[in-house]
Amino acid sequence: MAAGGVQVFFDDRFVRNYDRCIGPLERTLFREARARLAGRAGGKVLDLGAGTGANFEWISSSVRQLCAVDFEPRMLVQSRRRECPVEPLLAAADAECLPFASRTFDTVLVALVLCTIKRPADALAEIARVLVPGGRILMLEHVRSSSRVLAIGQDLLTPLQRLVAGGCNLNRRTEDLVRAAGFRVERRSARLAGMIVEIEAISPS
Ligand SMILES: C[S@@+](CC[C@H](N)C(=O)[O-])C[C@H]1O[C@@H](n2cnc3c(N)ncnc32)[C@H](O)[C@@H]1O
Repeated sequence: MAAGGVQVFFDDRFVRNYDRCIGPLERTLFREARARLAGRAGGKVLDLGAGTGANFEWISSSVRQLCAVDFEPRMLVQSRRRECPVEPLLAAADAECLPFASRTFDTVLVALVLCTIKRPADALAEIARVLVPGGRILMLEHVRSSSRVLAIGQDLLTPLQRLVAGGCNLNRRTEDLVRAAGFRVERRSARLAGMIVEIEAISPS
């Protein structure tokens, strides 16, 4: 099989088995963080890289509108079976070139996505563009560890992770990228030697 064919093979399995594979991590690491973040989303909300809709059940019923976009339509299709207090509008879209007017959203939810997007700085610039002035980005991401030893392990494992997990990088310095994009970090917390972060940041106006 050619290199492109191998990637297609693993991408296909990633899309079909995402919920099953992430299930154990969901229960131990992500569920409560999703509840904390999605529960703070308000107004017009963009769930960026929504995937199979794992954030949906945590969205508050007071949210005015929920748009869920993802690069991969087969992930979005699976999101249709999720419970959500607000009927989400689903659209296939690239985070690096969002099909929305500037200043459209009050909140952008980003869960486990900046690890995968090819050019995360471009995606952050797009997020800043579509947020209203003072709008919020609410993020749950796995990132490069604050432990040097673990970070080296992440560097070594990242090529394999990219192959089998839809292009996911284990070792991104995502918080640095958020700050470099001009966002003002209002809250942040980190767990597991700095590998799991929750960040709430205000859009550069
Ligand atoms: C690890 S999954 C996370 C899905 C979901 N947010 C969650 O928390 O379970 C990463 C998602 O990002 C999407 N993605 C990757 N690059 C993207 C891009 N440039 N634009 C939009 N979505 C993208 C993938 O298709 C995938 O659904």
